Amino acid sequence: MKGALLSQPANPGARILAVGGARGDRLVTNAELAGPIDSSDEWIRSRTGIATRARAADDQSMLDLAEAASRAALAAAGLGPDQLDLVILGSITHFLQTPAAAPQLATRLGASGAAAFDISAACAGYCYGIGLADCLVRSGAATHVLVVGADKLSEMVDPTDRTISFLLGDGAGAAVVGPSERPRIGPAVWGSDGAQAGRVGQDIDYRQAVAGGVWPTLRQDGPSVYKWAVFEISKAARAAIAAAGLTPDQIEVFLPHQANLRIIEQQVKRIGLSPEVIVARDIVETGNTSAASVPLATERLLRDDPQIGGKLALQLGFGAGLAYAAQVVELPPAGHRQPTAGGPATPFD
Ligand SMILES: CC(C)(COP(=O)(O)OP(=O)(O)OC[C@H]1O[C@@H](n2cnc3c(N)ncnc32)[C@H](O)[C@@H]1OP(=O)(O)O)[C@@H](O)C(=O)NCCC(=O)NCCS
Repeated sequence: MKGALLSQPANPGARILAVGGARGDRLVTNAELAGPIDSSDEWIRSRTGIATRARAADDQSMLDLAEAASRAALAAAGLGPDQLDLVILGSITHFLQTPAAAPQLATRLGASGAAAFDISAACAGYCYGIGLADCLVRSGAATHVLVVGADKLSEMVDPTDRTISFLLGDGAGAAVVGPSERPRIGPAVWGSDGAQAGRVGQDIDYRQAVAGGVWPTLRQDGPSVYKWAVFEISKAARAAIAAAGLTPDQIEVFLPHQANLRIIEQQVKRIGLSPEVIVARDIVETGNTSAASVPLATERLLRDDPQIGGKLALQLGFGAGLAYAAQVVELPPAGHRQPTAGGPATPFD
């Protein structure tokens, strides 16, 4: 007779314990970029809301940014790296197909031995990662998961491109997800549409790059992606609010992908969020940092207004794939928790 399989004990819920962020040091102005694309500070501000974008120095890599954000999140969570059992990294600027970047990040942090893998869901990568972490913690498959969105997009920009390059910045945002005595991360409403893969993404693959002797860049069909972001993604956001058992007026903080301030303002209306909702506008200074965008927006709001800790926030990631993910989360408290000394993690700590 065959034996019965054992399963891991499940947790009643999961939550974001803390977030951390790191941005490129240099704030690049619109005026610096406008010349080669026949644009202007006024056009970029009025069409996108961007005043500057954060860009990293040549010697600061995507992994350096990811490490800095992760260390900040771990410190704020009061956890040691040895308490992580999984690292999930969302990025489109790790220029190796294999090995993945997440194991290197885990090793840099001192979480050697933790399970670690990359996900490629572009600007939806962080929200995909939070959805995965929530499921894994609730199932008992993991106790503490580090979810990181990190991109150094300046390594892919084309200064003569008017479709997307002028929007892009460099940064990383990280969250530590752990067990909770009740659900504090709502169900992910996520999806994709590969039929529209050509709307936004890398222009050529690496075989074409080698053959042509040119480095790949990003391109988008801005107006069609804009409409998708406003109309289709707002529907997904409403579905995520409903899946959490809430109504749009109960959302206190809106954390959308920082792609365009006009998209964000349209989404507020179409989702039906309250006029009092606190809206993340990190894009104005940081620009679009792809996978880092939602966690960096969260990090800034918690830093600027610690009172928002504990509030109900709608996270919304969308971009190349096309891919999107939305979920409602209870924000972690701002500031630092008491460090624990390593060893086995306390349930619901
Ligand atoms: C890229 C984006 C900012 C362009 O703004 P837009 O308002 O849609 O602009 P359009 O492409 O319709 O062009 C409008 C006019 O501005 C011009 N224009 C386009 N890009 C320009 C630029 N970078 N600088 C100056 N002028 C520009 C066009 O030539 C056009 O001129 P015309 O009216 O004389 O023909 C916008 O479409 C966008 O943000 N798209 C979605 C981004 C997104 O969500 N991406 C997915 C996640 S990364």
